[in-house]
Amino acid sequence: MHACRRWLLPVVLCLCPALAAADQLAVYMLHCGGCHLADGRGNPPEVPSLRDDLGRIVQVEGGRDYLIRVPGVAQAPVSNQALADSLNWVLSQFNGATLNPEFRQLSAEEVAAARSHILADPLKRRQQIWQRYLAVAAGE
Ligand code: HEC
Repeated sequence: MHACRRWLLPVVLCLCPALAAADQLAVYMLHCGGCHLADGRGNPPEVPSLRDDLGRIVQVEGGRDYLIRVPGVAQAPVSNQALADSLNWVLSQFNGATLNPEFRQLSAEEVAAARSHILADPLKRRQQIWQRYLAVAAGE
């Protein structure tokens, strides 16, 4: 019995990250994947891809807020923490190539503060943010 317990704990601890990742995939598939598809490629131009550009967007001023304030994100019927986790998962899963290694993960507090300011014109805001990104990229 004792030997068994000693064996079980490391196994359970070791499975936790894998379970957390499976959880994130389930949340994504339930609330986002219907439109943006399982691999995040969406169906442009109607439904944008969530691959690569988001890693660029979060680098510029207003970019983090923009991701939270997009209507489909802000209105997802999940808690602030679950939404922060889900966006962080989308960023690491689909934007690994563009995400700055020093990227500070979105927090539940940040989501709470931004999500009530739903964007009335997300495409216009997207263009502003993208211009900012291009200006920053050109200056580098
Ligand atoms: C009903 C379909 C639908 C669902 C569900 C949905 N989205 Fe979207 N998403 C869109 C559309 C359409 C846009 C383009 C902006 C707009 O018209 O709102 C968009 C835009 C975005 C953007 C901005 C992308 C960019 O490049 O500017 C992000 C990020 C995003 N969605 C993430 C999510 C996440 C995360 C979820 C789940 C919590 C989600 N979306 C759920 C349809 C959806």
